[in-house]
Amino acid sequence: MEGLGRRKMLMAGGALGVVGALGAASPAGARPLWTWAPSASIAGTGKGLDPEWVWDEEADPVLAAVIERGDVARVNTLLKRWTRNDQALPAGLPGDLKEFMEHARQMPSWADRAKLDRAARFSKTKGIYVGALYGLGSGLMSTAIPREARAVYYSKGGADMKDRIAKTARLGYDIGDLDAYLPQGSMTVTAVKTRMVHAAVRHLLPQSPGWSGTSGGQTIPISQADIMVTWHSLATFVMRRMKEWGVRINAADSEAYLHVWQVSAHMLGVSDEYIPATWDAAYAQSKQVLDPILAHSPEGEALTNVLLGIVAELDAGLTRPLISAFTRYTLGSDIGDMIGLSKQPVLEKLIASAWPLLVAFREGLVPLPAVPAVLWTLEEAIRKFVLLFLSEGRPIAIDIPDVNRPL
Ligand code: HEM
Repeated sequence: MEGLGRRKMLMAGGALGVVGALGAASPAGARPLWTWAPSASIAGTGKGLDPEWVWDEEADPVLAAVIERGDVARVNTLLKRWTRNDQALPAGLPGDLKEFMEHARQMPSWADRAKLDRAARFSKTKGIYVGALYGLGSGLMSTAIPREARAVYYSKGGADMKDRIAKTARLGYDIGDLDAYLPQGSMTVTAVKTRMVHAAVRHLLPQSPGWSGTSGGQTIPISQADIMVTWHSLATFVMRRMKEWGVRINAADSEAYLHVWQVSAHMLGVSDEYIPATWDAAYAQSKQVLDPILAHSPEGEALTNVLLGIVAELDAGLTRPLISAFTRYTLGSDIGDMIGLSKQPVLEKLIASAWPLLVAFREGLVPLPAVPAVLWTLEEAIRKFVLLFLSEGRPIAIDIPDVNRPL
């Protein structure tokens, strides 16, 4: 009796713990103290300042000046021609911007060509898992990251959310491109342009009544902590789930995949002292910055609907119930509930029991498993989705915004 009572109490405590965690993640909830040590970072050392209060001191003043001078349209026209990593910057860019970009396009001294090559080959081999996880996992998780959802919703791109929301997940996929950081590739260009867009957004969004009214006291958006939150929703989440699914990943591949994301964080302007040096350090940081802030927001809900609409529109065979069930399986039911995904008890159970078998079969670990037909349909639909949504029409066209979303 006593044992049962105790177990019941522990279970109730566990359930309360979950509710408590979700409660703390409400927009009003306080962020946990920043205790992640710079010794666990790529830099190995640093001031240990909370990245919540760090933005981008190189890019921000330059982009603010470009906007204030009314140079954005001219700059965007010039930048359309800048598409390859090895290409010279277009002539005619304002001097301050050119100077910033010449510096920002330099790869970090610690970038390792062999690891980047390995990461690209790894992402290609595991393309279906990586693609499904970016598109249906990270993409939808971003709608449960209130600050990101609000920033996207109230910025210029929010007016065409369909186009906008597709881009972060796409960027994740482009990072895995075979050429990504090679001279003929385009990831350096994409990262530098994205860094400039983020800097422009930092100047513009504080002028948006919609954003200021919902920012929960944050006065400048897209801090380095926020960028690392999104980074974990892409890199850390994808690695963790692939491992949980039983995807075969050797140590060198796992390190290489981390490396391409470390380089990408640096290229997006994140200081090396916040970039995790190892997966263990990444998991620890993710626990501190991502897990506690996941929450529902009205802006996130609007974005969820847009994203689900895009997937359904692609008509890759992914019906809403299938997307809901697979995403709930991938993100967990807490996040599924948070972003309003419909419950699909039967499908969810099927997927949870059969998906790992299917992965094991694809990885050559087990013979053809007896799984319900709907699972093969799901896998085929995901394959089509990855092809249609993620790997077409590269590179992403990125423009610097000069206004917020019109009211
Ligand atoms: C723009 C990726 C972090 C908010 C973009 C763009 C990309 C991108 C590719 C350009 C898309 C376009 O031109 O529409 C990323 C990546 C991140 C990250 C890879 C982290 C690893 C964040 C965070 C926030 C944010 C943390 C907010 C809290 C925005 C906004 C825009 C933008 C508001 C501009 C939308 C517009 O007006 O067009 N991001 N982002 N991003 N990002 Fe991020």
